[in-house]
Amino acid sequence: MPSLKKNGNSERVLPKHIAIIMDGNGRWAKKRHLPRTAGHAAGSKTFKDIARYCNKIGIEYLTVYAFSTENWKRPQQEINNIMNILRDYLKDTENFKGENIKLEFIGDRTPLDDDIKVLMQKAEKDSENATGLHLNIALNYGGRDEIVHAVKDIINEGIKPEEITEQLISDHLYTSGQPDPDFIIRPSGEYRLSNYLIWQSAYAEYWFSDILWPDFNYKHLEKALDDFNKRNRRYGGI
Ligand code: IPE
Ligand code: IPE
Ligand code: MG
Repeated sequence: MPSLKKNGNSERVLPKHIAIIMDGNGRWAKKRHLPRTAGHAAGSKTFKDIARYCNKIGIEYLTVYAFSTENWKRPQQEINNIMNILRDYLKDTENFKGENIKLEFIGDRTPLDDDIKVLMQKAEKDSENATGLHLNIALNYGGRDEIVHAVKDIINEGIKPEEITEQLISDHLYTSGQPDPDFIIRPSGEYRLSNYLIWQSAYAEYWFSDILWPDFNYKHLEKALDDFNKRNRRYGGI
């Protein structure tokens, strides 16, 4: 169940788990006649600000989409640029250790560069006892790919068909042990999931906006959270 948090004089329900599709970096840069790299740099700053803000207001889980299994289709130079931004983020441990943020990566790490894998592992280890926000970074993440991995693991573990339940499948996903996202935010004017958390978001609420990710700030998040409070979640009931 979502937790009740004070907002001024009124009680409001905060989502336990927010998932964000950080989209629109390229269009933000194009509008300013800048290279796409400038858009990713600006998007990275927004990401740090929003993670810090979620931590401050007591959000328990935040999952951000940083790089999808489909994003390998982009020019190699852009891929390198995104990976370098991630390297910089992980090297500056103030970004998470200094913030008491617990960092976890979800996605298939296999094709990533070795030095990034080491940095990812170190960041997870360094922040494992953090008691603040649990921040998942979805990197080389795809919802269908995640389900394929889960099915392979289930078969390898010799689990019998009659033992398969929804819970068992959830327990074999990258987000095992975490609550499902209850609120999915996608800026940039696109109205699709792009293969994000497709199993976990079965009953999530959605919030779309035309704002490009680098322009997104805590005020937009506050507006989204206010809108979330107006939603009537029935889960199939009446
Ligand atoms: C999101 O911004 C960042 C990643 C997908 C890595 P985009 O790069 O997709 O920006 P647009 O959609 O081209 O504007
Ligand atoms: C989704 O954005 C992936 C990330 C934000 C990392 P895309 O820009 O890749 O999605 P599409 O291509 O518009 O579906
Ligand atoms: Mg995009």
